[in-house]
Amino acid sequence: MKSSKVEAAINQQINEELASAHTYLAMAGVADRLGLPGFCNWFKMQYREELAHADKFFNFLLERDGEVQLAAIPKPEVKNPTPLGLFEDALAHEQHVSECIFKLKDLARAESDHATDVFLEWFITEQVEEEANTRAVIDQLRMVEGNKNGLFLIDRELAGRQPESGE
Ligand SMILES: [Fe+2]
Ligand SMILES: [Fe+2]
Repeated sequence: MKSSKVEAAINQQINEELASAHTYLAMAGVADRLGLPGFCNWFKMQYREELAHADKFFNFLLERDGEVQLAAIPKPEVKNPTPLGLFEDALAHEQHVSECIFKLKDLARAESDHATDVFLEWFITEQVEEEANTRAVIDQLRMVEGNKNGLFLIDRELAGRQPESGE
């Protein structure tokens, strides 16, 4: 790859995406234990998307003649095992990932790596969408606060989330 700094940062981002997948899979498990199969489905779809993101970075690195260097994935922690807590933590996590992508874009620009710069545009759009989707569920959960019927309906809605086409 043209810049070893960008190469290292993309490897780091592969780890971020895999760690995200790991976290969402842990959240899916917690959701099911809470008796919320729809939430479980939503987090499993999220898990699959994160794996697809890691794969996208992996393939890009190879395409640019870079070297893949995988690192250990940290043990996921589910700090707030409640319906709202899971989604608030998911949003905070997505905001963190967005920051990582912005920093990566800044680095690509500083290194005049135009190919990476353009490649990252897709991820910026994707992060906007992911944050918005997560925030939308938080809004719904706050609206029904403590109302079991409302929670039941949200769970049913989340059960309908399907894998993205092109995944
Ligand atoms: Fe991601
Ligand atoms: Fe994400």
